[in-house]
Amino acid sequence: MEKRKIIIDCDPGHDDAVAIMMAGSYEGFEILGITVEAGNQTIEKTGHNTLNLVQYLGINCPVALGKGIPLKRKPMNCAEIHGKTGLDGFTFPELTIDFDKRDAVELLFDLLKANKKVTIVPTGPLTNIAKLLLEHPEVKKNISEIVLMGGSMGHGNVTPAAEFNIVCDPEAADIVFNSGIKVKMLGLDVTRKVLVLPEIIEKMQGISNKVSDLFVALMKFFNKTQKKIFGYDGGPLHDPATIVSLINEDVVKFQYMNVVIDVTGGPSYGRTNCDRFNYLHQKPNAWVATDINVEKYWEEIEKGLRRYSK
Ligand code: BDR
Ligand code: CA
Repeated sequence: MEKRKIIIDCDPGHDDAVAIMMAGSYEGFEILGITVEAGNQTIEKTGHNTLNLVQYLGINCPVALGKGIPLKRKPMNCAEIHGKTGLDGFTFPELTIDFDKRDAVELLFDLLKANKKVTIVPTGPLTNIAKLLLEHPEVKKNISEIVLMGGSMGHGNVTPAAEFNIVCDPEAADIVFNSGIKVKMLGLDVTRKVLVLPEIIEKMQGISNKVSDLFVALMKFFNKTQKKIFGYDGGPLHDPATIVSLINEDVVKFQYMNVVIDVTGGPSYGRTNCDRFNYLHQKPNAWVATDINVEKYWEEIEKGLRRYSK
């Protein structure tokens, strides 16, 4: 079977960490590289977390840092959910690997020059990808799709209108959604349905390998902060929905529609305005996730964690 070539662009982050676990477990992927965004924490911290994850999971690919500065707005972070380090709850072994010498955009450019039919999976703000498209539009032809976690047809999780990854850099999101590349958007409408309830953590604890141990420790921390901030008994496990949708196409349903990113700077700044009912008769530009099979989602997460037992 021909492997799917993927590049992950992330800001770990507890749910980013699970997305990387899932990607690293699946033999149908060739992970070409991982690029890092600021988001859940500063770029230094999300970078450090990414190296820790890559080393712990035994993933063999270059990891490159972005600059951590959004195109126009001031940087934001999300320490109230992900903690001081951005990945609180687990102590990793000492790091013996390092970043690639290239920065995120340079690595993306080199990987896309050398490979065709690449799937890009952003699970953080879209700054690195937007910069790549601005600086090297010629690589678009080698990107088969961008499968991202971000946005919402309904409510936001930072403001009434906006979701975190998009509001961190709305101008970057605007570039990505209007790039002409196939974009799949997995937003809060589906990711808020996949809550890591205590019984799920208990089930995964039973797998008892080093990666399920990591999952359990991280999710216990994640649930505490999610309870405090949002009142959830189980935090929404947003980011792995991207990877799971690629592993099993039956888990997430998508609808093709027009999406406008609000870059006007008002109260809806960063909103993904999704015209699901085609009110405005504009050209569709994104496949938006409209539903998720919750049971199948957890089955895939469990299978992914079990693959590390072999
Ligand atoms: C997104 O924001 C981040 O905090 C999570 O890692 C996820 O990518 C959810 O809004
Ligand atoms: Ca993320």
